[in-house]
Amino acid sequence: MNMNVPKHIAIIMDGNGRWAKEKKLPRIAGHREGIERVRETVKSAAELGVKVVTFFAFSTENWARPKKEIDGLLKFLDYFLEREVKELDKNNVRLKFIGREKPIPENLLKKMRQGEEKTKDNTGLVMVLALNYGSRQEIVDAAKKFASLVKSGKKEVEDLDVDLFGSYLYTQALPDPDLLIRTSGEMRLSNYLLWQLSYAELYFPKKYWPDFKRSDLEEAIKEFQKRERRFGGINVEE
Ligand code: IPE
Ligand code: IPE
Ligand code: MG
Repeated sequence: MNMNVPKHIAIIMDGNGRWAKEKKLPRIAGHREGIERVRETVKSAAELGVKVVTFFAFSTENWARPKKEIDGLLKFLDYFLEREVKELDKNNVRLKFIGREKPIPENLLKKMRQGEEKTKDNTGLVMVLALNYGSRQEIVDAAKKFASLVKSGKKEVEDLDVDLFGSYLYTQALPDPDLLIRTSGEMRLSNYLLWQLSYAELYFPKKYWPDFKRSDLEEAIKEFQKRERRFGGINVEE
């Protein structure tokens, strides 16, 4: 077995709407199918030796969509938590959410916290759901946190470095993603993990998210294994 499996994979699950449109279905049918791929991807990733998967489920910008679609998306997330947390727990998966709480509905927030609480001692795959997540907002929130610590005398301005700043982000103790996968052929980050993706390998398969199967995940990992990561240095053999 190749040991060079990415420890942390970040995924932008894109193309649900286009998948549905091509099938002459309502956009929401794409989201429904997309949830199934999330479930399968968690299972496959754990089996392949990945430690953390961070899924972009809903961005701070997605509130701009029609109310009907937002309601549908939130309903599916609610349904996912309702149906899957027990199963995730059984599989030793630890569930974590990143993003701002406001304006997530109270009943959904409650289920998110319950899911985190129930799985907090699990030692297997960490499944992170970025919900109402925006990376610029996260960086602003981190800056505010640090500023208030300085103001209250608990920190000095000079204390701030890359690691300390990273500890104020929602992702805190999680390792940075090694690989970013964005499905559907779009090649942009859309305000996702800007800080954390600094040295990630980027991979943009053409398939829409509802078509993204285990073999596609394996393909992505294979592609990752071909990449040479230099982190600004040079290859020692050269
Ligand atoms: C991604 O699929 C899912 C979410 C944003 C929640 P889209 O809904 O963006 O699908 P497209 O990009 O319109 O095809
Ligand atoms: C990014 O996809 C957000 C999620 C996958 C949740 P979008 O479809 O919202 O991104 P843009 O608008 O095409 O950049
Ligand atoms: Mg999209």
